[in-house]
Amino acid sequence: MAIKIMGTGSALPEKIMTNEDMTQLVDTSDAWIRERTGIGSRHISTGETVVSLAAQACRRALENAGREAAETELLLVATCTPERGIPCAACQVQSELGAARAVAFDLNAACAGFLFALHTAWAYIEAGIYRNALVVGSEVLSKIVDWTDRSTCVLFGDGAGAVWVERSERGGIRGFVQHSDGNKGAVLQCDSRELHNPFASVPSQTPYIQMDGREVFAFAVRQVPACIQEALEQAQMTVQDVDLYVLHQANKRIIEGIYKRLGAEPEKFPINLDRVGNMSSAAIPVLLDELNREGKLKEGMLLVLSGFGAGLTYGACVLEW
Ligand code: ACO
Repeated sequence: MAIKIMGTGSALPEKIMTNEDMTQLVDTSDAWIRERTGIGSRHISTGETVVSLAAQACRRALENAGREAAETELLLVATCTPERGIPCAACQVQSELGAARAVAFDLNAACAGFLFALHTAWAYIEAGIYRNALVVGSEVLSKIVDWTDRSTCVLFGDGAGAVWVERSERGGIRGFVQHSDGNKGAVLQCDSRELHNPFASVPSQTPYIQMDGREVFAFAVRQVPACIQEALEQAQMTVQDVDLYVLHQANKRIIEGIYKRLGAEPEKFPINLDRVGNMSSAAIPVLLDELNREGKLKEGMLLVLSGFGAGLTYGACVLEW
């Protein structure tokens, strides 16, 4: 028996912010942003939350899979921008959905979060602990972006994507690898709350996203192809066997670097970051949902999903649709 994605859904905030809009805030230009990143616009929350976006994406994934919220046994939300420290976003989503049976918790592995959550769901189902899972990536990164820093504020967008996973007779996940490199944490970071108690008061060093863009670029272009190769070997597949590579949408030039290093055809790497920017853990499930709804995912197709980000964290999954 395989474990398979049986439904997808996504939700984006209504407000679209173009590169032109960005020039009103910081010293930048549409040409610079497009050339260096491939991004043209992104969706930005005007009140939508990690929970409301995640719940909407879940409803759409459930409908797409032909399932009811009440059937959900495991509900995982990958996010690095939850509204609350407690309760976790997954429990709030559970309440909004009425998924009363589900065990719900969050997982934070930044831009690799959705992939790590999918692997977690796979392990629980494979072990026979739960029969199905809703796996979500949801972010409101606009809360932690420094809107005065042109080198980062142009990159990110808000949104959520979700998948329904269960056992299936055919297809499904064939290989999975995950890696973490905590020694490189300073490359991309953002503090949460400051320490403030009767004995100490330590302000946050980095209350907003801080990034060494060149280091992130070098890491992604070097490690992601190696990690994809590792997952393909595990699945006993080659780069040429793959029909589509659904990669984390950080930057068009990173994706170009990855397909060149892999020796894969560029047309196998769908891109939506031109419209949505970098949505961290939401990037992969939103792109997957768009491809699914456009009818571009056919039964039997071989897909590679790969996420990479702060931590550093990175991973890849090989699956048959
Ligand atoms: N508009 C205009 N100029 C800018 C902007 C901007 N938005 N941002 C930076 N610049 C300027 C810099 O100030 C610098 O000017 P200077 O030469 O006068 O000092 C110049 O452009 C070059 O800056 P660099 O940082 O060297 O530009 P680079 O070519 O490296 O591009 C970028 C920056 C796009 C961030 C690149 O490093 C990159 O793509 N890195 C990957 C980071 C990424 O995608 N992170 C996403 C989050 S992590 C993840 O999801 C995995």
